[in-house]
Amino acid sequence: MSASFPDLRMRRGRSSAWMRSMLAENRLHPSDFIWPLFICEGHDREEPIASLPGVSRWSVDRLAGKAREAADLGIPSIALFPNTPNELRTERAEEALNRDNLICRAIRTIKDAVPEIGVLTDVALDPYTAHGHDGLVDELGNVINDDTVEVLVQQALVQADAGADIVAPSDMMDGRVGAIRGALEAAGHQNVAIMAYAAKYASAFYGPFREAVGSLGRLKGDKRGYQMNPANIEEAVREVELDLAEGADFVMVKPGLPYLDVVVRVKDAFGVPTFVYQVSGEYAMIEHAAAAGAGDRNALILETLLAFKRAGASGILTYHALDAARLIRG
Ligand code: PBG
Repeated sequence: MSASFPDLRMRRGRSSAWMRSMLAENRLHPSDFIWPLFICEGHDREEPIASLPGVSRWSVDRLAGKAREAADLGIPSIALFPNTPNELRTERAEEALNRDNLICRAIRTIKDAVPEIGVLTDVALDPYTAHGHDGLVDELGNVINDDTVEVLVQQALVQADAGADIVAPSDMMDGRVGAIRGALEAAGHQNVAIMAYAAKYASAFYGPFREAVGSLGRLKGDKRGYQMNPANIEEAVREVELDLAEGADFVMVKPGLPYLDVVVRVKDAFGVPTFVYQVSGEYAMIEHAAAAGAGDRNALILETLLAFKRAGASGILTYHALDAARLIRG
C-alpha cells in the first residue's frame, strides 16, 4: 500500500517551478516538429492564405530562406505542398509527373541551399487534378484505386529523383505503400523513407489546407470513399498494420487533437515511429480562439503540442512549428 493523505501530498510536486520542471514527464523540443510549407509560382512572392492567418504560400526563391529559418531553429524537416497553377490541373493530373513542376523545383532549391534539412513530400494527386480528388476518377466520380496507385508510384519516383528524403502517401489508396517501396528500391532510392498517412480520416478540419493548395472550390463530392470514417479506430489499427507490412518506415495519424486516442492506440500496438498531423483546421481554431480572446495564443500552442507528446507521438506536423520552436528556446 502506498502512502495516502496527509502523508502523501501530490501538490508538493507542483510547489515550485523547479519541482515542476524536474517532474515533467514529457517535453517539447524543436526536433519534434515537421513544418508544412505552401509553395506558389512567381518570384519574390508571398501570398497570405485567408483561412490560415499567419500562413502564406511562398515562391520557390523565397522558400530557401524559410527552410533556413527552420533549420536554424533546430527543426529537422519540412513538408512541401504546391499550389499548382489552375491551367495545369487536369483530369489525369499529368503535372504531378512533370520533373520540372513546382514541387520538384522547390525540392531542388532547398536541397541546394539548406542541405541539412529533411524534405518531405505528399504523394497524392489533389494539387494536380481538375476535380480536386487525390486520385483518378471514373465517369461516376469514384476514385479508381489501382490506376491511381500506378500514377502515385510515378509521382513518388519523380519526387525522390528531385531529392525528396521522405515521401508521404496521403491518398489512402490500398496497396500504394508496397508499390512505392518496390519502385524506390528498383530505382536505387534505398534511403528515401516512406511516411504513410496510414490512419487518415475524412475530416472537416482540412478546409483551410484545401484553400491553400487551391483544391477547395473544385472538389466534387467528398473523400469518404477513401479516407477513414471518424467513427472508427479498429480500422485504423488495420490500416497501420497493412502499411507497415508493405514497408512503411513511419506512420501518421491525421488529424491530430480530435484523434489522440488513435495516436495512443497505434503507438502502443506497434511501437513504430508514429507521427501526427495537427491539421489546418486545428491551427485555424487556435488562431481564431486566441484572436477572440478565448485563450492565450502561445499557451494554447504549447499545450496542444505537448498533448501529442504525452499521447506518444514521435513527431508533429504543425503550422505552428516555427513559433513553437521559438517559444521553447525562449
Ligand atoms: C491531400 C492532403 C490533405 C492534407 C494533407 N494532404 C487534404 C485532404 O486530404 O483533403 C490536409 C492537411 C491540413 O489540413 O493541414 N491529400
